[in-house]
Amino acid sequence: MHTVDFLVIGSGIAGLSFALKAANHGKVMIITKANEDESNTKYAQGGVAVVVDKSDSFEKHITDTLVAGDGLCDVKVVENVVKEGPKRIQEVIDYGTHFDKTTSGVYDLAKEGGHSEHRVLHYKDITGFEIERVLLEKVHENPNITLFTHYFAVDLITQHHLGVFVDKSTPDITCYGVYALNTVDSRVEKILSKVTVMASGGAGHVYSSTTNPVIATGDGIAMVYRAKGKVRNMEFIQFHPTALYNPGEYPSFLISEAVRGYGGVLRRKNGESFMEEYDVRGSLASRDIVARAIDSEMKKSGDDFVFLDIAHRSKEEILKHFPNIYAKCLSIGIDMSRDYIPVTPAAHYLCGGIMVDEHGRSFIQHLYACGECSSTGLHGANRLASNSLLEATVFAHRIYEDAIRKFRNIVVPDGIPDWDDSNTALSNEDILVTHNLRETQKVMSDYVGIVRSDFRLERAMRRLGLLYDETESFYKNTRLSVKLCELRNVIQVAYLVIKSAMARKESRGLHYTTDYPDRSATLVDTVF
Ligand code: FAD
Ligand code: SIN
Repeated sequence: MHTVDFLVIGSGIAGLSFALKAANHGKVMIITKANEDESNTKYAQGGVAVVVDKSDSFEKHITDTLVAGDGLCDVKVVENVVKEGPKRIQEVIDYGTHFDKTTSGVYDLAKEGGHSEHRVLHYKDITGFEIERVLLEKVHENPNITLFTHYFAVDLITQHHLGVFVDKSTPDITCYGVYALNTVDSRVEKILSKVTVMASGGAGHVYSSTTNPVIATGDGIAMVYRAKGKVRNMEFIQFHPTALYNPGEYPSFLISEAVRGYGGVLRRKNGESFMEEYDVRGSLASRDIVARAIDSEMKKSGDDFVFLDIAHRSKEEILKHFPNIYAKCLSIGIDMSRDYIPVTPAAHYLCGGIMVDEHGRSFIQHLYACGECSSTGLHGANRLASNSLLEATVFAHRIYEDAIRKFRNIVVPDGIPDWDDSNTALSNEDILVTHNLRETQKVMSDYVGIVRSDFRLERAMRRLGLLYDETESFYKNTRLSVKLCELRNVIQVAYLVIKSAMARKESRGLHYTTDYPDRSATLVDTVF
């Protein structure tokens, strides 16, 4: 058993940013299910959208975010994030993070889809790797933080574990920590905490094609939903338009939107540029529009990809800005300074998630959510490129401010039981877990992708029902494993995506359905 002031689940930008601040006030424990740096954060390419240039303004960044969000952003939250962003990013710079500068010493700001200005701070094309490196370095220097790797958070502890009945209408559901599987010795440990911050990232692996690393299985969202917390707007799955088409590679390698920001043009195989036929902003329209256009082009041509062309830029320029992408493409025989790059959309980002208020508070007391697992209201129906890293730093700070005011008065009750696995046995059929995961991902990719319909959603729900029943019965009788827990979580998140998509009787942002192709006049969030 462990007892801490602050428990952080996840070691990406959200969890680490919060931990570094909270450690000035109490003991922090971070648990993370894989190696310490394995996270979506590590793979972020394009950078951080933030107003730093004189020609830019808060108003422009706010407008771009609201336009991308297609009417569903919380305006107050957008204003807070955009306006507090520069301070928070300055802290990340002060920790030691490098962002590229021009020869005249000013930040080399990139542009991405939906942005009216060059405002994306970046470190070559491996911005996330640089940020994660620096944050982990600072965490290791801090004696008030312990970081446990290969600890898998299984379920939140609430009064339910003390025998109290809890359902969605219970007003004071309270979190006292988590049960976590120590994957080194396969034992489930009880971690009690005054404050818990869910920073467990996204859920790309609900789909069979994704840019996310394998950790992104929606665990935090599933845990909160099981504990009767609220999740919001789960239908808004962002498909990145330009993942590298490289059959057999899983997860997919991303070709950053910054390549289009640097002049890259989407083309048909005969060389025609097609995005102008869909949006006046051409290849730099917002992601929902570009991904849908590519989907439509692929359906017309019968091909599995379209092309991205940046060959008009010199090899020297490309190598300076995109060394990682250049090397990757070259490794499969594509020289992007001469050749077209085959690209295809892939699941990339979850715009919805655990519903929180402007301080990052979830609907479960003493439980906050930060980063991609949360739904703050910033992204609305479609996230503006490079707003995610920004959101994580701003909300980590807001949560910190709220949590340090309260944690000293929080008492964790006695009598919380240890994990009970006495009626379970070791499984010798782990392959069934793998099969069910693949089936779930296929159902989601086939029927709950970029273009949806009632018929497809109903079909997906029916198939998911069977996978759910099989998996739950396996779970009840089997000793815990990471794979089994992840499968359960993926199915839970898939269910929430389908259910939310079914509830939205309109097309908006990332949710497009042929049965309701227009936007409705009323703005509603989908909350379960
Ligand atoms: P993550 O960084 O994903 O961290 C989640 C952490 O939780 C991980 O440490 C994970 O191991 C841990 N975890 C998960 N489940 C459990 C569990 N059950 N128990 C214990 N630990 C758990 N956004 C931008 O703003 N700009 C970009 O340029 C950009 N580029 C991107 C490129 C790629 C390829 C990808 C995949 C995403 C990109 N994004 C970008 C999105 C952005 O990187 C993520 O949204 C952001 O990094 C999420 O940070 P996070 O801390 O919330 O989650
Ligand atoms: C990219 O580099 O294209 C990813 C940016 C993002 O997801 O915000």
